Amino acid sequence: MNIDIGIDASKREEIGAGLSKVLADSYTLYLKTHNFHWNVTGPMFQTLHLMFETQYNELALAVDLVAERIRALGIMAPGTYKQFVALSAIKEEDGIPRAEDMIRRLVAGHETVARTSREVFKIAEAASDQPTCDLLTQRMQVHEKTAWMLRSLLE
Ligand SMILES: [Fe+2]
Repeated sequence: MNIDIGIDASKREEIGAGLSKVLADSYTLYLKTHNFHWNVTGPMFQTLHLMFETQYNELALAVDLVAERIRALGIMAPGTYKQFVALSAIKEEDGIPRAEDMIRRLVAGHETVARTSREVFKIAEAASDQPTCDLLTQRMQVHEKTAWMLRSLLE
C-alpha cells in the first residue's frame, strides 16, 4: 500500500538511510559494551561490569526503536553484521583493552552516536518528521549523558 503520512518517498528514503547509520552505530556500540561487560578485569571490575550491563540493556532496547522507525517510514532496516560494519562510524575492537581504555572507547562510541544522530536530525527536521526528531533527541540525550558518566570515571 502507498504510504501517505505527509513525507514524500525521497525524503523517507533519505531519513531511512540516516537512521540506518544510527542503527549501525548503536548496534556496534551495543556489542562493544557487551564484550567489555564480559571481559573487563582489574580493581574496577564490579563497578564496570554492572555499569556496562545497564548500558548494553539500554542499547538493546534502543536499536529496536530505531529499526521500527525506519520500517514505519517504509524502508527496510539493516539487520546483519555485514551491513552494520559497512554503515557504522564506530570500529570494532581487535583485542581486549585495559579497563581504562574500555571506558575511553565507550566514551568515543557514545559521542559518535550523538554526532550521527545530530546529522540525521537536520534531515528529519527539514522534512517535518517530528517522530524521528523526537526519537533522535532522546537518543542524543542518553548518549551524551552516558558519555559524561563514563568520562567522570577517568577524572
Ligand atoms: Fe552478564
